Amino acid sequence: MNIKARLKCRWRCSMFVIVAAIGKNGELGKSGDLVWHLADDMRFFRQTTSGGKVLMGRRTWESLPVRKDGFRKLADRWNIVVADSAFEGDFDELVTDLDGFIAENRSSSERIFVIGGGSIYEQLLPFAREIYLTEIKAEDNAADVYFAEFNKSDYDREILGDGVDEKSGIKYEFVKYLRKDKI
Ligand SMILES: NC(=O)c1ccc[n+]([C@@H]2O[C@H](COP(=O)([O-])OP(=O)(O)OC[C@H]3O[C@@H](n4cnc5c(N)ncnc54)[C@H](OP(=O)(O)O)[C@@H]3O)[C@@H](O)[C@H]2O)c1
Repeated sequence: MNIKARLKCRWRCSMFVIVAAIGKNGELGKSGDLVWHLADDMRFFRQTTSGGKVLMGRRTWESLPVRKDGFRKLADRWNIVVADSAFEGDFDELVTDLDGFIAENRSSSERIFVIGGGSIYEQLLPFAREIYLTEIKAEDNAADVYFAEFNKSDYDREILGDGVDEKSGIKYEFVKYLRKDKI
């Protein structure tokens, strides 16, 4: 990257990019799992994050299924897990000092996809310029983890696509939020 592009990147590029799927009331999770499993959303998530770095909390890590090959980590991505103390796993990097990690990476030119869960979204929201939300047109009052409140008027909203889940008939939109101010 040349200097001009890098300078532009210092405020134009979002280093932390949030990717989440939420219900009408911000529902994110239920009993340690996703609330809805929509095939199209899984595809969108894979396409968006593939080849990049993904940052997730310890509980989200533990919600990932162990595959037949014995691995839990998301394939084709550098898996970074946040936890208070050391623990074992086939992830690529463990972060125990989240504030230090944010300070170190917020002005790097590399994008880091923040993939949940609720506590990690909440802590990274102030540092994310881009948010990709799958807005699921359904509600579940048994959800126990919600997306943090954020002021939508601070962002430009762009609908990237929409659809209906074949299995459940649930409608959804893929929406990009881009912060208007510099962060
Ligand atoms: N709908 C979606 O797009 C989506 C995406 C991802 C996850 N989810 C759902 O969200 C739920 C999980 O969310 P959650 O909020 O309960 O958990 P989480 O954010 O995935 O993980 C929380 C854990 O991360 C660690 N952590 C968080 N902040 C930390 C910090 N500042 N320093 C050190 N460690 C820190 C702690 O681990 P320790 O306890 O080990 O210290 C904490 O218990 C699940 O139901 C999951 O399926 C939904």
